[in-house]
Amino acid sequence: MLFWKNFALDMNSVMKILNFIATAEVGIFPMKDAMDDFVDKLQEQIFEESKETYGEEVFSRWQNPRFMGKMTDASSVGRITGPCGDTMEIYLRIRNDHIEEINFFTDGCGSSVACGSMAAELAGGKGLDEAAQIGGETILEALKGLPEEEVHCAKLAAETLQVALHEWMLKKLKLENSKE
Ligand code: FES
Repeated sequence: MLFWKNFALDMNSVMKILNFIATAEVGIFPMKDAMDDFVDKLQEQIFEESKETYGEEVFSRWQNPRFMGKMTDASSVGRITGPCGDTMEIYLRIRNDHIEEINFFTDGCGSSVACGSMAAELAGGKGLDEAAQIGGETILEALKGLPEEEVHCAKLAAETLQVALHEWMLKKLKLENSKE
């Protein structure tokens, strides 16, 4: 399990290394073919084992995150760097007390990508009060769980969402006060 924990924490870096090896000019062609073959098999094995360990919900979002990216004209932004050193950002565009658009960005592990994605999926289109109810447990439940050592990734995504909502409330209050 420890092997997987370390592997999972840096799955993105592993994939970058594999891609680098796969595209490297080795010069000796038979050796390159053997290396390509080895990389393909290793990649396949990593995908299979990741799916088994993390489940379909997490795996599909790690591979294909929804709403990932930064927003230049957000109504508010939440940003937290967790104790693990990874940063999560959540961008909200708010209209009529509803989240009209939401994006997330993280430099973290595969699980943090899946959690940011799920946080955005759950909060998008919701009223502010409803979005304020989304916590780490809500995200974990929707993802059908995470290994114990990565539960904090869901907490990071939920807390970042709450910071973004709080930022918006402060902004709105300031605006209302300035009109009085
Ligand atoms: Fe830091 Fe997942 S290990 S957010």
